[in-house]
Amino acid sequence: MAALSSAAALRLCATVILLDMVFSKSVVPDLDDSFKESRKDDIWLVDFYAPWCGHCKKLEPIWNEVGIEMKNMGSPVKVGKMDATSYASLAAEFGVRGYPTIKLLKGDLAYNYRGPRTKDDIIDFAHRVSGALIRPLPSKQMFEHVQRRHRVFFVYVGGESPLKEKYVDAASELIVYSYFFAASEDVVPESVVLREVPAVLVFKDDTYFIYDEFEDGDLESWITRERFQNYLTVDGFLLYELGDTGKLVVIAVIDEKNTSIEHTRLKSIIQEVAQDYRAHFRRDFHFGHMDGNEYINSLLMDELMVPTVVVLNTSNQQYFLLDRQIKNAKDMVRFIDSILNGTVEAQGGDSILQRLKRIMFDAKTTVVSIFKSSPLMGCFLFGLPLGVISIMCYGIYSADTDGGYIEEQYEISKSEMESQDLMEESREQQEPSDGESVVPPMHEPKDALEKKKD
Ligand SMILES: *[C@@H]1O[C@H](CO)[C@@H](O)[C@H](O)[C@H]1NC(C)=O
Ligand SMILES: *[C@@H]1O[C@H](CO)[C@@H](O)[C@H](O)[C@H]1NC(C)=O
Ligand SMILES: *[C@@H]1O[C@H](CO)[C@@H](O)[C@H](O)[C@H]1NC(C)=O
Repeated sequence: MAALSSAAALRLCATVILLDMVFSKSVVPDLDDSFKESRKDDIWLVDFYAPWCGHCKKLEPIWNEVGIEMKNMGSPVKVGKMDATSYASLAAEFGVRGYPTIKLLKGDLAYNYRGPRTKDDIIDFAHRVSGALIRPLPSKQMFEHVQRRHRVFFVYVGGESPLKEKYVDAASELIVYSYFFAASEDVVPESVVLREVPAVLVFKDDTYFIYDEFEDGDLESWITRERFQNYLTVDGFLLYELGDTGKLVVIAVIDEKNTSIEHTRLKSIIQEVAQDYRAHFRRDFHFGHMDGNEYINSLLMDELMVPTVVVLNTSNQQYFLLDRQIKNAKDMVRFIDSILNGTVEAQGGDSILQRLKRIMFDAKTTVVSIFKSSPLMGCFLFGLPLGVISIMCYGIYSADTDGGYIEEQYEISKSEMESQDLMEESREQQEPSDGESVVPPMHEPKDALEKKKD
């Protein structure tokens, strides 16, 4: 009897687990037009996707995990997704311009997520943005807790003031990137020396820096510049974000899996310079390392040897390469100094010539990737227009010239354009999974412009 009932219990248990699995798959509801009304009283984290988009498919399992975890944590933020192609006008109202777009919707405000598409980063974003804009730090213990917990955060110290108003304004723009706290003078750690109050401070890199209105310009752009650690593990997303700072980034391009001494040596030289020359370089430079040269090659349209060091000017996309092996930190500092005094020649940039080169480079990459992933498709795509063109040429050559072919030529270039579109799409569909495609388009000035406007 006991055995029987325990077997039944077991079966029940299994059913519950199974059901749970089935339902947890759909824990993220697919939203429709009714969302416009129903969302009003809640905070929503929404993934606007398109059914055909490869990056969206890649995000889907992560998005389900985000949904499950937020629910399990009892977060007040609801997680949903919306097919932005089916509900295009609603998506447009929320300012969706590409896929996938992740937004946190809170009352009349819509916050864009632009960080790496990992579960933890997305959840952290949702917590930060859905919570209080300025978080109070009522005690020394809280202050220490926050210091342990966050690698970079901002603190306003003092009572009501015009500076505080500016701080609140800046925070409402920049809460998507960082944490903003407020504290009274007596809870600030003893190690912090404040010459005057009110003050705004950033805590990072095991130290702190105080905002100086005269030296640092307006508060919001100071926060934009200071929101990164001094030494970073650089990837495409981060490099794109660093563009906002207008600083130069010194990057050791290495292969993290390669155990040869040269790779670790370069990384530690950069770390040493970042640490020891912080006072000297921190206003103009960030430092870091990047695993692999794939992203940087496509950014620079160059083939870099790994390991190497590249210094990138994020405000005009020029870069500087070493002409020699770096010996030690001093040698690296000498190189940086000579970049600053203009004795090293810059490469790249965002001139018209560079943009043309970019178009050619992208076209070449597309063609190569199509042939690599599907030679047959490649032959079809490029063979067909080529065939048409040769027939046309033959026709033009052998025809009596009566002016009629100008129109035909136009026809050809139009069909070429169409096949270009097709290429873009097939690239999107075939190659969404090898990491390279998370590369945000740092080189596209239009995108950067849109970003600033947001
Ligand atoms: C590691 O890097 C060195 C260059 O520093 C290179 O010669 C070597 O082939 C690399 N090893 C592997 C396994 O990639
Ligand atoms: C980086 O680019 C900006 C904008 O073009 C320029 O003013 C600055 O001098 C450049 N920095 C260096 C070190 O080349
Ligand atoms: C530029 O800086 C480098 C490295 O410090 C130095 O060797 C060089 O003499 C400087 N050149 C000028 C023109 O100041």
